[in-house]
Amino acid sequence: MIVPGSSSQLLAAALAEGTGRRLATATYDRFPDGERLAAVPGFDGGQATVVATTDSDEAWVELLQLQDAVREAGAEDVTTVIPYMGYARQDASFRDGQPVSARAMARAVSTGTDRVVLVNPHEPAVADFYDVPVEAVDAASVLAEPLTADLRDPLFLAPDEGAIGIAETVRDAYGAGETDHFEKHRDRGTGEVEVSPSDASVAGRDVVVVDDIVATGSTMSESVDVLVERGADRVVAACVHPMLAENAVTKLRAAGVDRIVGTDTIERGCSVVSVAPVLAEALVADAVAEGG
Ligand code: R5P
Repeated sequence: MIVPGSSSQLLAAALAEGTGRRLATATYDRFPDGERLAAVPGFDGGQATVVATTDSDEAWVELLQLQDAVREAGAEDVTTVIPYMGYARQDASFRDGQPVSARAMARAVSTGTDRVVLVNPHEPAVADFYDVPVEAVDAASVLAEPLTADLRDPLFLAPDEGAIGIAETVRDAYGAGETDHFEKHRDRGTGEVEVSPSDASVAGRDVVVVDDIVATGSTMSESVDVLVERGADRVVAACVHPMLAENAVTKLRAAGVDRIVGTDTIERGCSVVSVAPVLAEALVADAVAEGG
């Protein structure tokens, strides 16, 4: 059975369809003191695949509750799919006294599952923090699907070195165009971002800026701003995880973005393409490998 977290209901439904598994109707309640209570009434006691993006602290609690609920109901085997793993950017103790938050979250999840599937975790090394087997699925190629076929002399641009790989993946999936990257500097105090443009000529070209996540939108809007200033024609912002916190969307619009394209690892208005087929393939391959 596919068991959805409250923030991943559309993706979980698509996964149920893609794998032929039943979709559980979980419930998500809250007590007057703010505590949550997620439950899976009618769970059939077989295999459970919990699908829950962790884009908020509440979502983490809900995920732990859903894992525990299916175990309590007799699940023989639990797989946990975390389409967007929050806290993955806190993958180290950056200053004296700080926790390794990604590790703390991973350890907590590991207590209630047999395996974990992540989609494009911000740092691949976070997979090592789990105490159970982890598969990190690369779904970036789906971002090419919603791009129009008529992009003019397209450039697929990574806003920093860390995103070069996914920019290349999207270019390859699109089937045409060049890739390049900016250098990024983020002021740790203010969070402000500056990008140093590459030498690539962008005047009159369509540019797709590709990143793993758009969070505050500072990285993406800075990049769009520079590209528009340098004469790019249409600038598309594409990301696997459209967190789009606070005023990210308006920052992007103000910078002159033509379109924002994201997947449904975080379900937003711009989630125009689904990672469900990529996840379904991974889950079915796992089941075959386990003889299920
Ligand atoms: C950084 O390494 C990531 O790939 C993203 O560029 C970054 O997390 C985006 O954050 P924001 O939208 O807050 O600039």
